[in-house]
Amino acid sequence: SRSINLAVIPGDGIGPEVVAQGLKVLSAVLPQDVKLETKEFDFGAKRYHATGETLADADADALKQHDAILLGAIGDPSVPSGVLERGFLLKLRFLFDHHVNLRPSRLLPGVSTPLAGQPEIDFIVVREGTEGPYTGNGGTIRKGTPHEVATEVSVNTAFGVERVVRDAFARAQARPRKKLTLVHKNNVLAYAGHLWTDVFNRVAQEFPEVTTDYIHVDAATIYLVTDPARFDVIVTDNLFGDIITDLAAAVSGGIGVAASGNINPGREFPSMFEPVHGSAPDIAGQAKADPTATVLSVALLLRHLGYDAEAVRIEEAVSADLAERGETPRTTDEIGDALAGRVAG
Ligand code: IPM
Ligand code: MN
Repeated sequence: SRSINLAVIPGDGIGPEVVAQGLKVLSAVLPQDVKLETKEFDFGAKRYHATGETLADADADALKQHDAILLGAIGDPSVPSGVLERGFLLKLRFLFDHHVNLRPSRLLPGVSTPLAGQPEIDFIVVREGTEGPYTGNGGTIRKGTPHEVATEVSVNTAFGVERVVRDAFARAQARPRKKLTLVHKNNVLAYAGHLWTDVFNRVAQEFPEVTTDYIHVDAATIYLVTDPARFDVIVTDNLFGDIITDLAAAVSGGIGVAASGNINPGREFPSMFEPVHGSAPDIAGQAKADPTATVLSVALLLRHLGYDAEAVRIEEAVSADLAERGETPRTTDEIGDALAGRVAG
């Protein structure tokens, strides 16, 4: 019989509230014969204050024993900026080789956008997750002097670029429009830009059905606002992907509905799924947080584990819920109940 062994990290702020709804919908959508086992981990600000650690080796080993990880949000004003980001989130991405950072953007009916009209928005960003300027390859000399020099070297390997580009081609091939856009800055970033472009063009030969396109990252931010319909699948490096996916979320309904997956496609290590939003300590504990982004992240998790039909059911439930959403604000729990009711339906 089938089973899902899930590590759950509620985290800080609104994390526990939205994760509870994600789990509610997950339990409701799974067929009877699938056994769901969850184990909760208390990473985040509390653990950091109690032990001074963000993610110990033993913790990473414990997480490794699971099929996937569901994360709420990590971050609290009581912890200096960067400590949990680097010590927990980025550490996990590197340790578990989450090289595909998947961020879909879909403007669903009934959802408002700051863009004029109601443009067609339905694309996914495949952001590289383990290289670029995120590796910590840099340093500083003459620190604190007027002559301080800081370097932050972007690391791009042929291996790392090729595997994420290949993943993006495969995802484009599987979509109706079959279009893949490389976003980079090869007019300025000569070395990394050329590696990305060369690898992209070489892998393209193996996917003759996929239409390809190249856009500089600055121009891409214009198109995301003026003509988002032109995008189907985007592949880009870690930092460009970080920036354009915030913009993508902003134009397609905001962070209340933006989901993401930190994916290890070969399933050598567990992949981690999380809403794009943060821990929002200002509204924590008030039952105001929208759990939709977490619920959509659960759909990505299910698809990654091969439960495609269940993932679709969740996505359809979210679409229907948003389309029929009234004017009265609902609590976190009410939204979770509505979604769980729909997927069980
Ligand atoms: C994200 C976040 C992280 C990133 C931070 C918190 C390290 O902005 O997941 O997009 O830059 O990747
Ligand atoms: Mn970001």
